[in-house]
Amino acid sequence: MSSPTMAEKNRLTPKPQGVGGFDECWYPVALSSEVARGSVHGCEFLDGRVVVLRAGGGEVSVLSAYCRHLGADLADGDIRDDCIRCPFHHWVYDASGQCLGSEVGDRVPHGTSLFAFPTQERWGLIWAFNGREPTYNVPTWEEDESERCYSTIMVADYRGDPFLAMLNVIDVQHLRSLHGLDVSDIDLKTEDESFHVDMTIGGGDMGLPTMTRHAQILGTNSVVYSRTSIGIDMMSAATPYGDGRSRLYLVTAGLHSVIPAESIVQKVADRQRMSEDVIAQDIPVLERIRFRVDKVTSSDRGIVTFLQFVTNYPRSHPSAALIA
Ligand code: FES
Ligand SMILES: [Fe+2]
Repeated sequence: MSSPTMAEKNRLTPKPQGVGGFDECWYPVALSSEVARGSVHGCEFLDGRVVVLRAGGGEVSVLSAYCRHLGADLADGDIRDDCIRCPFHHWVYDASGQCLGSEVGDRVPHGTSLFAFPTQERWGLIWAFNGREPTYNVPTWEEDESERCYSTIMVADYRGDPFLAMLNVIDVQHLRSLHGLDVSDIDLKTEDESFHVDMTIGGGDMGLPTMTRHAQILGTNSVVYSRTSIGIDMMSAATPYGDGRSRLYLVTAGLHSVIPAESIVQKVADRQRMSEDVIAQDIPVLERIRFRVDKVTSSDRGIVTFLQFVTNYPRSHPSAALIA
């Protein structure tokens, strides 16, 4: 493959998140376990901050964090009748972000509301869509959650954009070089908007059992592994926050129909630990990479297609005025 021209390099080098908005994706903003019933939890997201409100019945909403009055952080508020009460002058917001009024003082201006993100809770994660309407379904497996034994963690926090973690899914060569894994039967289907990778993988220092598996990338930040031959699949998704950082979440999920009940918890825990070890090898590289694509080889074809996809992916930032 000949060296790309400057115009081609620009076409292949995604702008940092925040430049022209953020990719319109489903992002995990918190672990389900971080938000108890009848409580509010604050977290950094995109270039600002959101609160996750969990009503007494368990439903969650993700809202801009700052009170519309003078900007107090609503994560410091308290929950009354499934509404958040601002700690400062006690303005009250319902789960849709609508301000219901003030418990003291003047009448609140009509139509005062927080930004409410489209929200879903799946597989131990609370997901928010960066946009007014989701453009695809939240990442999931086809089974019901009761059909799997799963464990969900925040596995890493790195300087860099979410797509870098997804690039590793396509970058089959690094599985051999960085992780020392045996990889074969690779079938990479990278089309304009759809990225699927089948392979046989195993070995390495951590003794990964040999397995076949299918990976599908969703948006620019999530991957769902499915049909894994050992009966344990994974999902991971990265969330941009702060000044160019990403939090990476991992779900490890074993199928009750494949793994005996007496060993499934241990098997999921062991598999999760191996993923943590693999990701710990990736993070120092992701942290310090100065991403460039001016010398690529024929094996990098999938990477180039993915980079084109990421570079052209729609961005917006409808919550900009309210979360920062
Ligand atoms: S800052 Fe929230 S009510 Fe005044
Ligand atoms: Fe990796």
